[in-house]
Parts: sequence; C-alpha cells; structure tokens
Amino acid sequence: MIDKIKQLKDEIQQVELTSPDGLERFRIQYLGSKGTVKSLFQELKSVPNEQKREVGALMNELRTLAEERLQTAKEQLATQTQQGDQLDLSRPGGPESVGARHPLSLVRSEIIELFERIGFSVSEGPEIEDDWHNFSALNFPLEHPARDMQDTFFIEKGEKEMALRTHTSSVQVRVMESSTPPIRTISPGRVYRNEAISARAHCFFHQVEGLYIDKNVSFADLKQTLLYFAKEMFGEKAQIRLRPSYFPFTEPSAEVDVSCSICNAKGCNVCKYSGWLEILGCGMVDPNVLDACGIDSKIYTGFAFGMGIERIAQLKYKVNDLRLYSENDVRFLKQFTPGI
Ligand code: DAH
Repeated sequence: MIDKIKQLKDEIQQVELTSPDGLERFRIQYLGSKGTVKSLFQELKSVPNEQKREVGALMNELRTLAEERLQTAKEQLATQTQQGDQLDLSRPGGPESVGARHPLSLVRSEIIELFERIGFSVSEGPEIEDDWHNFSALNFPLEHPARDMQDTFFIEKGEKEMALRTHTSSVQVRVMESSTPPIRTISPGRVYRNEAISARAHCFFHQVEGLYIDKNVSFADLKQTLLYFAKEMFGEKAQIRLRPSYFPFTEPSAEVDVSCSICNAKGCNVCKYSGWLEILGCGMVDPNVLDACGIDSKIYTGFAFGMGIERIAQLKYKVNDLRLYSENDVRFLKQFTPGI
C-alpha cells in the first residue's frame, strides 16, 4: 500500500497541467468522488491496524499534494490568459499622444507675424557676444554704471573676454553694421542675466528687439507702431501710455504700458490697481549708436524697442511664475494648443 501511495505521488508530481481540459481531467481522476484518492481512503479499512496511522498520514499528504498542484496550475493558467489578452495583436491601437507648441514659441510667432505684416524682417545674432556688440556700440562706455543694470555672465573664449548677451539689442548693432537704411527689422532671441531664479526672475529669458531706421523717422512713428502692436496682441480696446525713462542707446527713451486687459483698465491685482501693465522699453536710436554702427546720424534717424516674450506670454496666458516656462512639464505645456 505504501508503495502504491509513493507511486501515485510521483505520478501526480509529474503530470503536466497546461490546459483547462487537462486540469479538469486531473481533478476528476485524482480528487473526484470516484477518483484515485477517494478509493485509496476506502482501502484504508483493509490496512492492518498497526500501519493505519502511517498509511493514513501518507494518504493525507497525497491528497494535499494533488489539491495544491491543481490550485497552482489554475493560477498559472489564469495569468497566462491575462497576458495573452494584452498581446492581442488584432486589437485597434491606442491614440498616439502628440506634442504641443511651447507657449513662448506661440507668442514669438505671433509677434513676428504681426510685425511682418507691416514690413519688418526677422534678424538673428549670436548668443555669445563680444563687449562691442552687447555694450560699447550701444553707447555703454567702459566703467559706465549702466552696465550694472544688466548682471552679465562673462566667459573666456581664447584670449578674448566674451559674454552671454544680456539683451537682443546686440542684434541691432550687427544689422546696422551690415546693411544700409532703410532698415526695418525685429530680432527675437534668448538672453542671459546673472540673476537668482525665482517666480519673477530667471537667468535666461527671451526678448524681441525692434529697429526702424530711415530718413525722417519720428517719435510719432514709434508711438503708432507700438499702438498697432498693442491692439494686435491684446485686442482692439488696448491703449498704450509712454513714461520717460533712460537707456544708454536711445534718446529720448520711454517705457511703455498697455491698458490692463484682465480688468479692462478698471484696476485689479495683476495691474496693482493702476489699470496699466509695463510691457516694453523704447526710444529714438541715439545718434552715437548710429555713428558707431556706420550709419550717418545727420541723414538718418530711427526708433528701437525691446520687449520680453515671457512678459507678453504672462499677460496673454496669465502665467505668473517664470520657472514654469523652462520646467517642461507636459501638463503645463499642452494647455496652450487647443485640441490636444
Ligand atoms: N535692451 C533693453 C533691455 O534689455 C530693452 C530695450 C529698451 C531695447 C529700449 C530697446 C530700447 O531697443 O529702445 O532691457
């Protein structure tokens, strides 16, 4: 009897259980009401009394073994079928997620497009600049305190000390040096300043510079161009106001505010209850700058302006933390392209 049980034990361990049918056959054969284990227990009666204990224990082990094999085979089969479902090659594919345009490039394109409509071209220049293009040609004399207005990252490139440009006004210089008036161009690009990163300041940001040089260009032309820009960007109701200011490269200089489109100039926390939001700096190009760049200031006059793209995007999309623009969190980025 003991041998018979051992033999059955081996048999049960070796059976391959790979299909639901096989499993059911196994259950009926070994554990069913007329199955092998049941009939073994019936034979226990004929076992001599002194062996009953040992044989009974072995039979119990055998039954447990059969039950366990059945259970694990069932579980294995269940997970295999699940995985099989995931690999169903006939299922239709899920939608691919598509990228969105960055809010700063959306605003940049919008600015370019609206200036192109009134005859401005687009010029670009290098991000690593020399002192001449970033400062000296723009009428910042050496040791002039105005250089401190822009915390500069200086870098060494060979013998020469270079800087990461602090503004896109450097492109003005390059354009004036390499062309003759009339000049009507805008220069979008990235600029760098050595500032601690916070919600309101970053060590890099983006600007668009504007430059118009011709005979008889006047301050009235500048005002009209900026009013056109404000209305195209912020809506027909937008108004602008100019406040006197100082930049080394323009004379006279002004800072421009646009009426707050969030509260319709009634006053809110974004415009600090003034009804106005500062958007750019501008002025008539200083004759010193024209002459430094090889343009005769007795014949030509011109205006220039410079604005921050982040600032315009902030007003347009009401995003008040500059850091969001460079963190590249897709949940932020995908909000600006409708339909994604
Ligand atoms: N370059 C200035 C800045 O980064 C902005 C600016 C002001 C540009 C007045 C101009 C201008 O062309 O006329 O703060």
